[in-house]
Amino acid sequence: MNPDKPVSKMNQKRLVFSMLPLMVSALLIAIFVVFNLSVKTPLFYSSNLQNHPSPKQFSLLIGILTRADNYDRRHFLRLIYGIKSPPFAQIDIKFVFCNLTKQEQRVLISLEILRFNDVIILNCFENMNNGKTYTYFSSLPQILSQSYDYVMKADDDVFLRLLPLALSLQPLPRSDLYYGFVIPCQSMNPFVSYMSGMGFVLSWDLVEWIASSDIPRNDTFGPEDKLVGRWLNAGRKARNRFSNKPAMYDYPGTNGRCSHELIPDTIAVHRLKRWDQWLAVIRYFNVTKELKASKLYHGLDF
Ligand SMILES: *[C@@H]1O[C@H](CO)[C@@H](O)[C@H](O)[C@H]1NC(C)=O
Ligand SMILES: *[C@@H]1O[C@H](CO)[C@@H](O)[C@H](O)[C@H]1NC(C)=O
Ligand SMILES: *[C@@H]1O[C@H](CO)[C@@H](O)[C@H](O)[C@H]1NC(C)=O
Repeated sequence: MNPDKPVSKMNQKRLVFSMLPLMVSALLIAIFVVFNLSVKTPLFYSSNLQNHPSPKQFSLLIGILTRADNYDRRHFLRLIYGIKSPPFAQIDIKFVFCNLTKQEQRVLISLEILRFNDVIILNCFENMNNGKTYTYFSSLPQILSQSYDYVMKADDDVFLRLLPLALSLQPLPRSDLYYGFVIPCQSMNPFVSYMSGMGFVLSWDLVEWIASSDIPRNDTFGPEDKLVGRWLNAGRKARNRFSNKPAMYDYPGTNGRCSHELIPDTIAVHRLKRWDQWLAVIRYFNVTKELKASKLYHGLDF
């Protein structure tokens, strides 16, 4: 064939047909490679997580202390926290309350457990400031089938952003750690004096210490968050303390100097007592952003 002569239409077609098997096999190999990569490596997680190549670096149990009768709040919080969990941390969320007291609770909560498996019922009698936090931490080593690196106690009127929370814990020590929002409001010293009950984290060794030491066992009556700080001080524990301000705070206007405006780098917003406050938070943090418009959803705003 004369190389200078333009290839005829017929010849072009023949050329394409003769290359077809080659092209198909190249395509198959490419698909195979991409599929394998995406299955075996976490590189395909969203871009801001590429610094965290090994999948589960630590585990965190978040116990949301609530009451058995708060069905609506549990339903709502399951929706809030069902949306996303960071790929580099194992985060389990459980609703924690004391002994059931009504026949209907035994039925309805059994249904919840069957469906969601996210309930812990402690052996205590529901009462403010009467040792529920002590019962929570001190029971965990006995009742859990696994230990965690960290255990959090959270209120049921706090909005936690799990990804920023996990990112903030990732570089911290895994032991002797006490993390949260230090009280009093204006304090910037994590040792002065204790972490707010809105949500604080203890490393597992401190949970085991609470379960075994006389110091907390003898001192369970009073404001729960303050007590935890007192136990740790008395036991000379928690040499690693981190107060995460301004990322944790009370909802604007609800609690003096513990409150400030919503900010993008938020980990926890506390004192969400009313729906308008929850709605403002959900909007501000784009919680429902991934929802796609559809003819099925008449009248939803996008
Ligand atoms: C909780 O319930 C169990 C089983 O009914 C009972 O044995 C226990 O005494 C109760 N604890 C409290 C603190 O009421
Ligand atoms: C706790 O209380 C018991 C009994 O009252 C007492 O014997 C023990 O010394 C106390 N322990 C601490 C650490 O206060
Ligand atoms: C929410 O989305 C808007 C629009 O995309 C963006 O400008 C804003 O920064 C987002 N807010 C947060 C807290 O990520």
